[in-house]
Amino acid sequence: MSKTVTITGAAGQIGYQLAFRIASGQLLGASQKINLNLLEITPALGALKGVAMELEDCAFDALSNISISDDPNEAFKDSEYAFLVGAKPRGPGMERSDLLQENAKIFSAQGKAINDNASRDIKVLVVGNPANTNALIAMSNAPEIDQNAFTAMMRLDHNRALAQLASKLNCHSSELSYMTIWGNHSATQYPDVSNLKLNGNDAINSLDDEWVKNEFIPRVQNRGAEIIRARGLSSAASAASAAIDHMRDWALGTKTDDWVSMAIPSDGSYGISEGIIFSFPVICQNGAYSIIQNLEIDAFSKESMEITQKELLDEKTAIEHLL
Ligand code: NAD
Ligand code: LMR
Repeated sequence: MSKTVTITGAAGQIGYQLAFRIASGQLLGASQKINLNLLEITPALGALKGVAMELEDCAFDALSNISISDDPNEAFKDSEYAFLVGAKPRGPGMERSDLLQENAKIFSAQGKAINDNASRDIKVLVVGNPANTNALIAMSNAPEIDQNAFTAMMRLDHNRALAQLASKLNCHSSELSYMTIWGNHSATQYPDVSNLKLNGNDAINSLDDEWVKNEFIPRVQNRGAEIIRARGLSSAASAASAAIDHMRDWALGTKTDDWVSMAIPSDGSYGISEGIIFSFPVICQNGAYSIIQNLEIDAFSKESMEITQKELLDEKTAIEHLL
C-alpha cells in the first residue's frame, strides 16, 4: 500500500530538497511506495509543475504518484505524513518571531484542512517559522486529530549541536549520544550537554564549562542567523535533512542507546506549562514518541528552560485569537 506524504511550500528552497529525498525512499525506505501531494500558493504553481516534472524524470522506484495543488483540502486528502514547510523565511537582522503574525494564518487554514481531510493517523511536522507556535496554531485548528500528531522541528538544532561537539571533542558526530535541545526553535532554545555521552561514556567532564556556556550554547542558538549571513538565504538542505531525520525516527523508531529532540505538545513534564509546543528529549517506538523522564535538572538548566518557556508563552499570547 502506498503512503501519502504532503509537502507544503514544495517549490521553495526546503521543499525542493525534501521532495526528491522523500521520493527516493529516504523517509520510509526504498521499498515503501509513496504518493506525494505537493501544495503551493497559486502564483507558485508554475514552478511547482516544474518540480513535479523533474520528480517524474527521476523515475524513482518508490514514487507512485505526484499531485500538485493550491488547495490545502486537496493536498491533505488522506495524508499520513505532512511536512508543513510553506511559510515566509526571515532575512538578515530578523528574529523568527518577527514572522509570527504573517505566517500564523497559513497554519490555522492548514490545521482546518488537516482536520477535515487527513488520515486520522497523520503525523505532522511543522518546519515553517516560528515553527513551535505555528504547530500550536495548526493543532488548535484540528480538534478531531490527536494533539500528539502535531510536532515542530528541533532536529536541525540537535544535529547542529552534535556537529559542534564532534568538532570540539575531535570525534565523529555518530559517536555522540544523549544530546538535548529544550524549548523553542529560536535564540532562546537551550542546548543541554548534561547527559552527553561519547562512545557510551560520560562526556561532560571533557567539556570546559566556559566553552559550553559562552561559545557552544550561543553558537547553536544563533546558527540559523549565521547561515543566513553566509548564504544570504536561510538554511535549506540541512533543514530538509533534519526534517527527514525527525519524521523517519518518529515513524520507524529512534536508535537504541540514544534519544532525539522533538518539539511536541507539553504534557507538563519537567514543570513545563501545558498548551505550548516545547522541545523535549524523546524516544520513538511503534510510531509514537515518549518523553524521557526523571533527568536531573540543575539550576542553570532550570533557568535556561524557563527563559525559552516564557518566550513560547509570549508567542502564544500574541496569536491567541487564532487558537
Ligand atoms: P522559501 O521562501 O524558499 O519557500 C517557501 C515556499 O512556501 C514558497 O515557495 C512559497 O510560495 C510557499 N508558501 C507560502 N505560503 C504558502 C501557503 N500558504 N501554502 C503553501 N505554500 C506556501 O522558504 P524556505 O527556505 O523553503 O523556508 C520555508 C520556511 O521554513 C521558512 O519559514 C523558514 O524560516 C523555515 N525554516 C525552518 C527551519 C527549522 O529548523 N524549523 C529551518 C529552515 C527554515
Ligand atoms: C534555521 O534555523 O536555519 C531556520 O530556522 C531559518 C532561520 O530563520 O534561522
